[in-house]
Amino acid sequence: MSSLLVDDIGELVTNDLGGEDGPLGIRRDVALLVEDGRVAWIGPSRDAPAADRRLDARGAAVLPGFVDSHAHLVFAGDRAAEFAARMAGQPYTGGGIRTTVGATRAAGDDELRATVRRLRGEALRQGTTTMEIKSGYGLTVADEARSLRIAAEVSEETTFLGAHVVPAEYADRPDDYVGLVCGPMLAAAAPHARWIDVFCERGAFDVDHARAILACGQAVGLGLRVHANQLGPGPGVQLGVELGAASVDHCTHLTDADVDALASTRVDGGHTTVATLLPGAEFSTRSPYPDARRLLDAGVTVALATDCNPGSSYTSSMPFCVALAVREMRMTPAEAVWAATAGGARALRRDDIGRLGVGARADLMILDAPSHLHLAYRPGVPLIRQVLRNGVLQ
Ligand code: NIG
Ligand code: FE
Repeated sequence: MSSLLVDDIGELVTNDLGGEDGPLGIRRDVALLVEDGRVAWIGPSRDAPAADRRLDARGAAVLPGFVDSHAHLVFAGDRAAEFAARMAGQPYTGGGIRTTVGATRAAGDDELRATVRRLRGEALRQGTTTMEIKSGYGLTVADEARSLRIAAEVSEETTFLGAHVVPAEYADRPDDYVGLVCGPMLAAAAPHARWIDVFCERGAFDVDHARAILACGQAVGLGLRVHANQLGPGPGVQLGVELGAASVDHCTHLTDADVDALASTRVDGGHTTVATLLPGAEFSTRSPYPDARRLLDAGVTVALATDCNPGSSYTSSMPFCVALAVREMRMTPAEAVWAATAGGARALRRDDIGRLGVGARADLMILDAPSHLHLAYRPGVPLIRQVLRNGVLQ
């Protein structure tokens, strides 16, 4: 059994109830003992048990690693020209997804693997210790299966998104494509996936197709997630709530009924549908941000994630999303940090990550700053000094 004492922590964000200062459960001037990849003890340094090794935090802030619960890392090519066109006034419609599908199908496994590993590495250096990864740029049985195989090499949180868009070769027979997704594609994908997701939006999948696809995934044991209400109002959020999805993602255009439906999932304990907000997408598509305040004030559980993908949000940076959420979405720094850690864990229905209590996984980051406030206060600055994953320095 190997042990490591992280000592001289000026501010420890535990996200455990019972700490001072609201939802972050902040403790000051403490040490944290890691044993076998788990948090074994937290308390004042002078009371710390003996440990094999010591890591000096030098008075800095220590936080749970970020839990990025929404990313599309398996793709080839980039769409910088599409971004430039948007910045010159073109709208985002999601139509570029098919461009990436073409490039992804043409790429070899090694090229896809190199991109996934590069982006996963970028995120890790910015404090992300858990990252969900979706397929969705293959859209054939073989290309979806290989996307998930490659994703599963670097993450246990993998999501089958065969229902990203209807690929061009099925454009005039979407029912047949839904049949493919629910049949052979799901069969090939399910062994490599924990979740199934659908882009429920005008121009992608309507509510009947989305319901059918999610039901097929649920029947083979996959958990549910939905891309919902991104480009306009629609039925995605309420569909996700109805089916007990772990998360509905984007939530940019919500009616009062959508907010009420999300808030009602708080009541039955254990089966909350989280609203995952993806401010990198609004940034990169120059769209209005989702109304986080309205969700929080209604009691909805909110998560923040990057949506890292080559079209609508080509960032792997959770600190950037935290800063956007605070500045542009009227979240407090504490709410944004909670949403990027504990909120992401809820969105993945995990209770071993996103917090730093005894028994939790020792996934944490040491900042080059005295407080979590600096993540939003010093935007764009590389503040993540060290990252531990399963108690191991990365
Ligand atoms: O989450 N909305 C659908 N899918 C991605 C965008 C994908 C793309 O533009 O390539 C998203 O924003
Ligand atoms: Fe997405």
